[in-house]
Amino acid sequence: MEKSNGLRVILLPLPIQGCINPMIQLAKILHSRGFSITVIHTRFNAPKASSHPLFTFLEIPDGLSETETRTDDKTFLFTLLNRRCETPFLDCLAKLLISSDSETEEKKQRICCLIHDVGWTFTPSVTKSVKLPRLVLSTYTVSFFLNHFALPKLRREVSQDSEQDDLVQDFPPLREKDLVRLLEEKREYIEPYLNMMLEATKSSSGIIFMSSEDFNQDALPKAREDFKVPIFAIGTSYSNFPASSSSLFTQDETFIPWLDKQEDKSVVYVSFGSLATMTGPELIEIACGLRNSGQPFLLVVRVGLVKGTEWIEVIPEELKATFNEKGKIVKWAPQREVLKHRAIGGFLTHNGWNSVVESVCEGVPMICLPFIWDQFLNARLVCDIWRVGLHLEHRIERNEIESSIRSLFSGNEGEAVRERMRLLQEKVGRSVKENGSAYRSLESLIDHISSF
Ligand code: UDX
Repeated sequence: MEKSNGLRVILLPLPIQGCINPMIQLAKILHSRGFSITVIHTRFNAPKASSHPLFTFLEIPDGLSETETRTDDKTFLFTLLNRRCETPFLDCLAKLLISSDSETEEKKQRICCLIHDVGWTFTPSVTKSVKLPRLVLSTYTVSFFLNHFALPKLRREVSQDSEQDDLVQDFPPLREKDLVRLLEEKREYIEPYLNMMLEATKSSSGIIFMSSEDFNQDALPKAREDFKVPIFAIGTSYSNFPASSSSLFTQDETFIPWLDKQEDKSVVYVSFGSLATMTGPELIEIACGLRNSGQPFLLVVRVGLVKGTEWIEVIPEELKATFNEKGKIVKWAPQREVLKHRAIGGFLTHNGWNSVVESVCEGVPMICLPFIWDQFLNARLVCDIWRVGLHLEHRIERNEIESSIRSLFSGNEGEAVRERMRLLQEKVGRSVKENGSAYRSLESLIDHISSF
């Protein structure tokens, strides 16, 4: 870490895994540049403070009941959190500001700004009342963030039985059939929530994306035009910082000796992130497809992936017995380490933005099976724009899964996909090096925050 610069940044992540990881990543980056870090977090899904001894963690009550935390409607959950956390957050922030003012000169660290997840919409009035600058962190890709405010309008316009491959005009490269799936999700509170998010973003002092120009060539200039606030696409400098440690789940590492024994680029890694759910028969189809492909595989089945089950009891014992030493199933894996491993040759993924970025950073081609929300757009970027993956088109059938794995691992198409992935990995790697676009964007972010 650089010498302390006397400035403290307050961070407020949204309490889901896919939002905590990038916020902690940002905390590590800022800390390495001399900033002190305070993370204010909810009781629900609290990050593990002991994994980050250099940061200060402060918990605020969120008032969520057990039942509320289990809701499928994430917008409802975030709406509740915004309603219930405003006062506790203001109290916490006011106390911090008072205590930082009363520090002795040599210990003094000025609180220079708040950086919060875009999902926190109550923040403008709070930071205005204490006169603190505020930036937002988007855990989505720039193009999804930019266009998703139009979703309520698109919901009114789209024909619900569309199975079209046509591009959605207001939301490329999303296709009409993706839009239909995306809108199937229960999100009753979406319109007022998105409006508040838009207001909170437009009135902020800047937007940070854990992304870079290489991922979003067209979307970044458009975002700059639309939001009229400074935008920082600081890249994904994952390799500079140690992985793991912001996991809300217990990581299983017992499979590592098995992975070490596999041939280079031979294993299919399979994971669907922290939110997606599927049916028991779908999981069985995936397991059969993996087994039939003949490739070794590491399958992550998160507790809760198949609703109403304890874990993997839906997979028949006779099927499990056929995996032999070829297949491993775990509840949660240290994903970044797994993707880095020389034995991994492909990633069957739900296309959460973090997973996509981690896969590109490690040069692992993907098989795309998006389930919800931004994942549909991310999968199109992977398959249609960068062409570094194969799309399953939601056909969760054993034969489809088997043949996509065979194409990726042994066909001509797979070879072309791997080559393009190698080039994209290099390009993204260059952008975080000195004078690369993400590097320069990070430098301007540091200057921007330091100027408050
Ligand atoms: C969702 C969205 O899909 C995502 O785009 C959005 O920005 C946040 O919410 P999620 O379903 O959690 O995210 O997926 P993803 O964005 O891929 O994040 C999952 C994180 O968990 C990744 O950083 C991944 O490395 C980690 N992970 C996943 C593990 O560490 N181990 C696992 O076994 C699986």
